[in-house]
Amino acid sequence: MPAFGDEKTHTALAYTDEVRRKTDYLYPKVAQFIPEIEWRVHAPYIAAINDLKREKNAVVLAHNYMTPEIFNCVGDFAGDSLQLAKEAAKTDADIIVQAGVHFMAETSKILCPEKTVLIPDLRAGCSLAASITGADVRLLKQKYPGAPVVTYVNTTADVKAETDICCTSSNAVEVVEYAAREWGSDTVLFLPDQYLAKNVAAMTDVKIVTWAGACEVHERFTAEDICEIREGNPGVIVLAHPECPPDVLAEADFAGSTSGMSNFVKENQPKNVVLITECSMSDNVALENPKVNFVRPCNLCPHMKRITLPKILHSFQTMEHEVIIDPEIIAKARLPIDRMIALPLTRQSMYNHQRPPEVAAIESRV
Ligand code: 13P
Ligand code: SF4
Repeated sequence: MPAFGDEKTHTALAYTDEVRRKTDYLYPKVAQFIPEIEWRVHAPYIAAINDLKREKNAVVLAHNYMTPEIFNCVGDFAGDSLQLAKEAAKTDADIIVQAGVHFMAETSKILCPEKTVLIPDLRAGCSLAASITGADVRLLKQKYPGAPVVTYVNTTADVKAETDICCTSSNAVEVVEYAAREWGSDTVLFLPDQYLAKNVAAMTDVKIVTWAGACEVHERFTAEDICEIREGNPGVIVLAHPECPPDVLAEADFAGSTSGMSNFVKENQPKNVVLITECSMSDNVALENPKVNFVRPCNLCPHMKRITLPKILHSFQTMEHEVIIDPEIIAKARLPIDRMIALPLTRQSMYNHQRPPEVAAIESRV
């Protein structure tokens, strides 16, 4: 059965004078990418969502990959995975609506078990989170006794419950080095992103054992794509997400998390830039940097794109879909996230360098 928000299941709300009054101040934020005719479709949802947020003491946490009308017009906090986790931990709202994917909503629930956490579409998954289970991690721990388990936040609560410390793309190198030091081991299990693992391994002496997971969006980019972009756009600055394969990063000028890339553009104001990541990022960063020209190769994340304004409104109206996690799993999964949040972040980016990564193994799914 189609979920609410699919075209067949709802009728559009009307663009009334009241809606216009409530939303006119927001339009200039997104006018560059949303034509007026399209804005009239979004505005009634934006007005209704913002009213309900106030009424219900709720916040919307919006990931950088959300479309501009969500990111700029209903998101209370926007950012990368680490920033959203930190906001979830801090908020005094009663309800969190996660405009992102399911693992992000689980992270919010783990950090705020007393709050209601809603995900507007249960099908908003992630190829990385789907690549590994808690049982897989238990088997790996038996195979590599004593090696700390670092897992990417793009994992389910079950996997986090088997983890020593979590990381995101903005702190992965620091977390791996911290884990090796604290657990007194020269080897770290780094799960489940094989490409992030290799990219991290290139920046540390810690021996890394990884897993065969990959982001279905970032693994599609190739080094040849970058060469073609450079040929067609001389002087373009190339920023890549560390979930891309290492040969893609080797061709980039800078690698960093979604917010790392966004900050790079803000701070450096390159004339021409390309973000090797999900499509909506460029729109959101472009809106904040009107003097920068963006070259746009486009790989969409089908999971992120399941989150739409009608579905967010439906969540507020019906309190669907509530994220429920077994309290025992919450208790176990919280520790590795708290450990990550407590680490001071000193290195925001992953610059290229040529040392070949030492990655001990890529496990296949057990
Ligand atoms: P960031 O942590 O860089 O936002 O990346 C998360 C991600 O992969 C979103 O899908
Ligand atoms: Fe997962 Fe990749 Fe989509 Fe992020 S972009 S949610 S890592 S599939």
